[in-house]
Amino acid sequence: MKPWTAALLALGLLAAAAQTKPTAPELWNWLADQNFAERWRHVPGEPEGKYRGGPPHGAVLQTFVNDLAFEALRSGRFPLPAGAVIVKENYTADGRLANLAVMRKVEGYNPEGGDWFWAEYTPDGRVLFEGKAALCIGCHAQKKASDWIFSGQD
Ligand code: HEC
Repeated sequence: MKPWTAALLALGLLAAAAQTKPTAPELWNWLADQNFAERWRHVPGEPEGKYRGGPPHGAVLQTFVNDLAFEALRSGRFPLPAGAVIVKENYTADGRLANLAVMRKVEGYNPEGGDWFWAEYTPDGRVLFEGKAALCIGCHAQKKASDWIFSGQD
């Protein structure tokens, strides 16, 4: 095997591993590449832009969904498909971005937690919570009927 073939193979395996078991830093970099704040849509049925929130996430919130999440939410198809991602920006009452909360659906990752990979970051990407985060799972569990998702549900 030529060295570059081996290198490509290794990269491919890494990419596959990232798919099945992401890490929070990888997810952060991927989100940056996605430019989600410009390119993603908001939760179907919810007003566009920032809206008033409350504990625990923040006084002002803005939620972005990728296409996979958008289509599933629009047609009420729960659970969401693998690859669906929801990002929520959490702002303080005076408009400062405090942190970002993310859910990424990974098939088979954690059935007890809706197969979501949970992550929370500071605005500059420092990881606050990651993976099978008990805090996130414990509260979102009350929304199991809508695949652990609050937004857009009554
Ligand atoms: C005490 C309850 C509670 C905890 C703990 C909590 N959340 Fe949430 N989360 C909510 C509520 C309520 C909403 C809906 C907020 C809104 O948009 O009005 C929400 C919304 C979200 C959303 C947008 C999708 C949705 O469900 O509406 C994401 C993403 C999210 N949370 C991630 C996280 C992560 C990651 C953690 C852990 C670091 C976490 N949450 C911890 C209550 C909680």
